Formats: sequence, structure tokens, C-alpha cells
Amino acid sequence: MTPQRRFPKSMKCIPGGIRSRGRVSNEMKVLVTGGAGFIGSNFIRYTLTTRANWHVVNLDKLTYAGNLDNLADIADDPARASRYSFVHGNIADRDLVNQVFEAEGPAVVVNFAAESHVDRSILDPAPFMETNVCGTQVLLEAARRHEVGRFIQISTDEVYGSLGPDDPPFSEESPLAPNSPYSASKAGADLIARAYYRTYGTPIIIARCTNNYGPYQHPEKFIPAMILCALQDRPLPIYGDGQNVRDWIHVEDHCRAIALLVEHGRIGEVYNIGAACERRNIDVARAILKSVGRPESLIRFVPDRPGHDRRYAVNAEKLRKETEWTPRYSLEDAIPVLVRWYQENKWPYRSSRRPATSSDASRKGLDARGATIDSLAPRWPV
Ligand SMILES: NC(=O)c1ccc[n+]([C@@H]2O[C@H](COP(=O)([O-])OP(=O)(O)OC[C@H]3O[C@@H](n4cnc5c(N)ncnc54)[C@H](O)[C@@H]3O)[C@@H](O)[C@H]2O)c1
Repeated sequence: MTPQRRFPKSMKCIPGGIRSRGRVSNEMKVLVTGGAGFIGSNFIRYTLTTRANWHVVNLDKLTYAGNLDNLADIADDPARASRYSFVHGNIADRDLVNQVFEAEGPAVVVNFAAESHVDRSILDPAPFMETNVCGTQVLLEAARRHEVGRFIQISTDEVYGSLGPDDPPFSEESPLAPNSPYSASKAGADLIARAYYRTYGTPIIIARCTNNYGPYQHPEKFIPAMILCALQDRPLPIYGDGQNVRDWIHVEDHCRAIALLVEHGRIGEVYNIGAACERRNIDVARAILKSVGRPESLIRFVPDRPGHDRRYAVNAEKLRKETEWTPRYSLEDAIPVLVRWYQENKWPYRSSRRPATSSDASRKGLDARGATIDSLAPRWPV
């Protein structure tokens, strides 16, 4: 059971419950974009499990990163399946997005849909601008026209740029200084969301989270890539000198924070989300090797990524104070559990049920490490 929390009264109401024969019930329709990806699928699972009155519509283009198998357990559970539906489509497709808003009338939009991998953005920034910037504007416009009650823009700590070793963590007031095409596209989306709030009063909230780990993450990302290489006894490729610092959070802690912001966040505000878990990449790789029982000699330093941010960390005090959110997971405890999960769940990334997309073109290029992205990906089965 969710513990009782105290909130200012003004934060409690989200207009736009589900209408049935002219009556509004306390059921709530939530449009989740990018719900077939890593964080989106975890968010849908978490909210359908913990929020009995939420009905979720998942709008996803199913790029190389989207996989409906990530939500297979929902389809097998009638109590959650009856409150879930999927629409295959692009958030940048204005006509389709308007049709979805017309048909579904969501009270809330949570926009996870994005091109999300920095290396791919270096190879080909165009899909990042199309989805992350233009797609977000299309959604905001539909949200404005259809008067949604709340629009949560899922952003990232990477919009703040890089910290020096002794700098304090980023606050919500830190200036935006993105360094990669990915983070620049996310910063652009944040500014458009802010402009919709200031110009039209669109009820946006921006959430800037640190690096996530957890089940269903695509193996191109750091922690799954390290786990899968270690399980396969293959070299673990680490950029530069391995001293880059990331601030890690379990995906479920992120999802819980987003659900709280949907219910209690203040409109027009930015919230940082982070678990105060700063770790050097080299130390995360070592912890994974230890958990898998493989030697540190598997670590291989490879040429650094251009524009590679040295350190990220955020101060999440505002979120903690306003919603009483605290993280429940620790990285060190979670790594062995995650290693087991990747050993036991080989199927999510073997699916070939995805349509080809423009972003697939970038898979053919060379990345900063001088290898194709696909050749760096771990091979199944582990
Ligand atoms: N992964 C992290 O550590 C992290 C940290 C902070 C913020 N974020 C943000 O969280 C969000 C989700 O990240 P993720 O790691 O789950 O990404 P992901 O790459 O795993 O998933 C992205 C999903 O969006 C879908 N998508 C892509 N383009 C689309 C489009 N044009 N229309 C509809 N759907 C589209 C994909 O099919 C996929 O299902 C992103 O906005 C990302 O910027 C991620």
C-alpha cells in the first residue's frame, strides 16, 4: 500500500477524468509516449500496478529501441490489460497525434518518446531533432488544443552539461549547457515546453532525471552492455580513462517520482530526479565484473566519445521536499539482481518484430570508438 502523504490542497486535482454517459468518474486516462522503451515500459507496469484508477494509452513508433515484448506480462494479466491499450505511431505525425487525442481524450500526457542514445546522435543528429524537438512540439500543441490537465516532459540531467570534480550537483536553476546533439535536442524540447506554459498556460512539468538502470534497458546502454559483455566473457569497452562520473538511479525510483509529479507536481515547474549515487564508470564496470565472477583484465579502454561529459549529478531536494519521494534502491544491491535478470530474460532483445525506421540508417555508421554500434553490442545468448 502507498503510505499516506501530506500535500498542499491545491496540488491534488487533475481535471479531466474519464467520461462515461456524461458523468466524469475518478478513473484517469494517461497517454504515455515511448511506452515500449526502457523507462516507458517500466512506468506503464509500475502505474498499472500501483494506480488502480489509471488507464494507459501507449503511443510508440517501435523504433529499434521499442519492443512490445517489454510489456508482455501486462497482456497476460486481465486486471491490468483491461486498462491498457497500444497505438503504433510517431509523435511527430500531427494528424495521427490529433486522432489519438480526439479518440482517447487523455487527462495527462507523459512524454517519454525520444531518440535516446548519445552515440547515435553523434552519428546522425537528424532523427533526434525530428522526434525530440519536433515531436514534442506536436504533442504540446495537441495537449493545448485538447486542454489536457497535465503534461509531463521527460527530460534528462544531460541538458545541464558537464560538472567539474568539485562543483556542487546541478539544481533546477543551473543554466542549460548541452554538449551532444542528444542533450541539445532534449534541452530544445524543455524550452518549447516552457514556452507553451508561459505563452498558452499549457500545464507542463519538466522532469530531469539522472542515468537509469534496471530491467528492459536496451543493451546499447552502459550498464546492460557491461553486464552482457561480462556474462559472455568478452572485453568491456570503456570510453577514455573510465573516470567519467554518472549519477545512477533505479528505473523504478524514477517511475515512482514521475507518478508523484503527475499527482502532486506544481505546474510550470522543473524537478530534478536523482538518487545521489555518483559513481565512476570504471567502478561500475568493476562491480559488475565482481558480481559476474570475471576478472578486471576484461576491461578495455577505447578512444573517448567526442564532447564526452565528464560528470553529471543533480540535487533532487525540491522533489524530496514537495512529494516526500526518496529512492528505495541502491546500485550495489541492485547489480547482482540485474545480472540475474539479464541471465534469465534473453528474449526481449531477440525480437525482430520491429519495422525498419530512418534511425536504423545510423546503425551502419562508425561510432567514436571506430567500430559499428552493432558490432559493439553484446551477442545473445549469454
Ligand atoms: N535512460 C536513461 O538513463 C534516461 C535518463 C534520463 C532521461 N531519459 C529520458 O527518458 C526517456 C525514455 O528513455 P529510455 O531510456 O526509455 O529510451 P529508449 O530508447 O529505451 O525508448 C524510447 C522509446 O521511444 C520510442 N520512440 C522513439 N521515437 C519515437 C517517435 N517519434 N514516436 C513515438 N515513439 C518513439 C521508441 O520506439 C522507444 O520505445 C527519453 O526521453 C530520455 O531522454 C532517459
